[in-house]
Amino acid sequence: MALVDLREHAEDFAADPYTYYARMRESGPVHRVRTAEVDEMWLVVGYEEARRVLADPRLSKSWRVSELWADEPGHAINTNMLEADPPHHTRLRKLVAREFTTRRVEAMRPRVQATADRLLDSMTEKGRSSADLVDALAFPLPMTVICELLGVPDLDRDRFRAWSNEVVAPTGEEASAAAVDHMGRYLAELIEQKRREPGDDLLSALIRTQDEDGDQLAPDELVGMAFLLLVAGHETTVNLISNGVRALLAHPEQLAALRADFDGLIDGAVEEMLRYDGPVKTATFRFTREAVEIGGLTVPAGKPVLVAIGAADRDCARYPDPDRFDIRRSPQGHLAFGHGIHFCLGAPLARMEGRIAIRALLERCPDLALDTRGEPWQWLPGLLIRGVRKLPVRW
Ligand code: HEM
Repeated sequence: MALVDLREHAEDFAADPYTYYARMRESGPVHRVRTAEVDEMWLVVGYEEARRVLADPRLSKSWRVSELWADEPGHAINTNMLEADPPHHTRLRKLVAREFTTRRVEAMRPRVQATADRLLDSMTEKGRSSADLVDALAFPLPMTVICELLGVPDLDRDRFRAWSNEVVAPTGEEASAAAVDHMGRYLAELIEQKRREPGDDLLSALIRTQDEDGDQLAPDELVGMAFLLLVAGHETTVNLISNGVRALLAHPEQLAALRADFDGLIDGAVEEMLRYDGPVKTATFRFTREAVEIGGLTVPAGKPVLVAIGAADRDCARYPDPDRFDIRRSPQGHLAFGHGIHFCLGAPLARMEGRIAIRALLERCPDLALDTRGEPWQWLPGLLIRGVRKLPVRW
């Protein structure tokens, strides 16, 4: 099958991946592609195939299975669930699930609301009438929430944000390796501090927790877990809020409907935001353990496979008129949080944050509008995350 070179379209692709995905889907659910980072991989763009691949045990999450694996000493932050297969994945997920419970998430609700209100107070104070919504709300809300949940309120957020951005949307190989290194050392120190002064928080609980057999997280596993929770906990939710607000402001009739019935529509509106323009464009890499047939193509063993969640969730075979943003659609089965054993651990928290932030923002600013003044959007680079660096709004 012909190789599609995504490098030729990198900028257009970042601005509008959906047009490319639609074109690809027309000629098949799976494609062999080349990107700036990887010479040859398989991109899954059809919904049914995407769902199947996400839950297929013949695809591994471990880089060791891949022909791209360089046998270098791994970094502690890569000792995380999202890069592990059963039984290692099962063990890590079980230990964190014991502590990251619905009760712990529900207990955060008043804090999430209070944080959103406080951020909106400072955004609108002293007669101000415009702001960058990413800076004012979409970034600090999830960052504050995940830091409070983990119990690291004094996290050096500016430095952490810079490293974390570099890890999920790399600007270059060296910069990204340096960010991984800094982050690993910083987290190991943070965990040592917590060990000395434990609290009532998730990180202290993860340090302490033991299952029935006395199994515990090892030091490297704790660094990997803290990394995954901190990065997954904010890099994604920031874009749920900003992509969601962008979609609403671009569809005034949907915005008006939501304003007229928050109680009835906010939950469904957030699901549609996740489907229509979700934060995660492609799931993380999977690698074939053996030759695997996907959508009529045989992918040889050891090859990287990427599931384009953003493409699957706009497949017209699954969602009629998929490019229409419709907050009343109830897009059940969307893949924005993944599927199978790696289904997003933070989905209930992310949904809560999205619902609270968007409602509080719209209630506070009844005439909220975009304030881009003809400036083009600055899209996040790379295939992984969908979002803009800045979202200028006025009210
Ligand atoms: C709107 C916000 C979010 C979106 C769209 C999202 C999306 C995803 C997706 C697609 C996956 C699966 C990736 C794959 O299979 O390759 C995932 C996994 C994960 N997410 Fe989220 N996420 C969000 C928020 C969060 C939050 C707030 C947290 C933590 C507090 C979190 C923690 C995790 C973890 C730990 C995993 C790995 C689970 C495993 O490997 O078993 N996520 N997320």
